[in-house]
Amino acid sequence: MRIDVVTLFPDFIRESAALGVVGRAQERGLLAVHGWNPRGYATDNYRRVDQRPFGGGPGMLMLAEPLGACLAAARAADPAPARVIYLSPQGERLTQAKVRQLAAEPRLILLCGRYEGLDERFIDREVDEELSIGDYVLSGGELAAAVLVDAVGRLQEGALNHADSATQDSFEDGLLDCPHYTRSEATGTEGVPPVLLSGDHAAIARWRRQQSLGRTWLRRPDLLARARLDKADRALLAEFIAAWRAENPAGA
Ligand SMILES: C[S@@+](CC[C@H](N)C(=O)[O-])C[C@H]1O[C@@H](n2cnc3c(N)ncnc32)[C@H](O)[C@@H]1O
Repeated sequence: MRIDVVTLFPDFIRESAALGVVGRAQERGLLAVHGWNPRGYATDNYRRVDQRPFGGGPGMLMLAEPLGACLAAARAADPAPARVIYLSPQGERLTQAKVRQLAAEPRLILLCGRYEGLDERFIDREVDEELSIGDYVLSGGELAAAVLVDAVGRLQEGALNHADSATQDSFEDGLLDCPHYTRSEATGTEGVPPVLLSGDHAAIARWRRQQSLGRTWLRRPDLLARARLDKADRALLAEFIAAWRAENPAGA
């Protein structure tokens, strides 16, 4: 997969995409992340990339011409058709389901806004989709683009050393992940649920599923309301809730 990021801070994107799992995915040839700076496409002597908006008011907008020329250069760098995404607080909220969908694309171009954002006509003409990473406002789209690159990059086949680990993560089946306990010489088995030490794989799987259901009930009832639970899940959850209520009579 190829991801081109149009940004006034391409070094940030290159450096963040060189770390950890995403860096490894790039080394393994599973992903290529490129940064493109609109400033290099500015035509005036000052390399200007911002402009005042029509109608006045505070703040500047990104100048459409250098942005357009930069986007055109990024598009032309590879013959594969690219889905163009503008990272914006006004976009659809990013979810793991959306990340999975985008991870299957051959190519993405991510546009990072600065100042008050982009000219609306430019968005209408060039952008396929707007995505937000949450209901808060960042000063630029770079952190949001880095989030998307990471989430999509780690799903490239072969990026994770254990392919299964991604499918067991939170949100993959509509639930939160179960708690995990590390092996440690310092703390030994203290505080570790006994079932995890039992070697009984069926019992461990059952416990993990129950914890996953229970955590989602406690922390994200909105997710649980949408999750598809079968009869066995409902029984596990009922057992979890009864035990939790017995331990937390004040919260029951
Ligand atoms: C200061 S913001 C502009 C906010 C814009 N005036 C608004 O209120 O919708 C500058 C840039 O940061 C990025 N950005 C800010 N918050 C974001 C979010 N929650 N998700 C994705 N990108 C965001 C966008 O690229 C945006 O163009």
